Amino acid sequence: MKQIPMLDLKLEYEYMKEDIDTAIKGCLEHQQWILGPEVKELEDKIAEHIGVKHCVGTSSGTEALILSLRALAMKLKGQEYFEKTNEIITTSFTFTATGDAILRSGATPVFVDINAGTYNMDTTKLREYLKSSDKVVGIIPVHLYGQACNMDEIMKIAKEYNLFVIEDVAQAFGGMWNSKKLGSIGDTGAFSFFPSKNLGGFGDGGMLATNDDKIEELARMIIKHGGKNKYNVEHIGYNARLDTLQAAILLAKFKHANEFNEKRRKIAQFYNEGLKNMNSIALGEALQDATHVYHQYTIRVLDGKREKVQGHLKNEGISTMIYYPVPLHKMEVFGKRAKVANNLTESEKATTEVLSLPMEPLLKEEDLEIIVREIKKALI
Ligand SMILES: Cc1ncc(COP(=O)(O)O)c(C=O)c1O
Repeated sequence: MKQIPMLDLKLEYEYMKEDIDTAIKGCLEHQQWILGPEVKELEDKIAEHIGVKHCVGTSSGTEALILSLRALAMKLKGQEYFEKTNEIITTSFTFTATGDAILRSGATPVFVDINAGTYNMDTTKLREYLKSSDKVVGIIPVHLYGQACNMDEIMKIAKEYNLFVIEDVAQAFGGMWNSKKLGSIGDTGAFSFFPSKNLGGFGDGGMLATNDDKIEELARMIIKHGGKNKYNVEHIGYNARLDTLQAAILLAKFKHANEFNEKRRKIAQFYNEGLKNMNSIALGEALQDATHVYHQYTIRVLDGKREKVQGHLKNEGISTMIYYPVPLHKMEVFGKRAKVANNLTESEKATTEVLSLPMEPLLKEEDLEIIVREIKKALI
């Protein structure tokens, strides 16, 4: 039976094979595996692309979040880490790494609820919490599934309450809020180049984007053990550099980033058309001010029918995924270490209804037709 995967990285490799093979060969020839020329080239290209002064390559998106937090603790508080009494607000309906980075920075994560339509931070709930706590130091909005949070509102709130903003752009490379690229609006933007991301490498990788010279300086120190001279360091650091080889591959794939995001939007349009007005299916809300890059195309299956639909699609060879089955506040690691701002009804509800459909930019229309047809069949 024909299989339709969520993503087909082999197909994408074939599509860009020449560029990628040349990039890898270049590294084999120069052998500068650590902080080789491709890292700087990628940092400069992405900085220009998103419109920021600096980009710092990191070993993953998670590290880009942690480096952002650590650099902000140093800059704002003159400390290596935040304190437990420092609260940082994010959402519970995200990947573990967002909350985990806050814990690793020493602060306490506080989870606010999401909007039912966009799955992103509910700024009314954010305001509500800020009225009740004077311990909040920052916000990490997550541009989930590739759609921007309401950055006008978030930046306005941050200014009012004197908070820093770290954008979690792991899922939204190339996405925009009005005319601004995501990752360029907050104090920092943390990108992930995990293989399945809109711009993904052949292993782990990430990037920290910022307009702040001090944050860049600190991040460059912390990615290599905590100092400008790694044999005599000032800060508690990591080994968190982006590999030269990954940077070279990412440079080759970056050439296709806009084209692939456009293809993702076309696929989303097809799904939107095919699945509209269907009983038991709810489509996500696309905001006018946001340029969505559809890292995931996620629907809700209502009336307790998600498992039925997922099971039927599986039997027909169609992969689907549930991002995310457990909200962060229900995980053991966050249980005693995090706070819940208000009730997280929408986050909890989303975990029981969401279903992400195949989103391979090179997916053919005939495959999309099969997917839509089988979803309809599953609900008869
Ligand atoms: C929302 C979000 N934040 C952070 C991360 C962490 O990125 P990485 O896997 O590169 O560490 C991911 C992806 O995996 C993510 O989806």
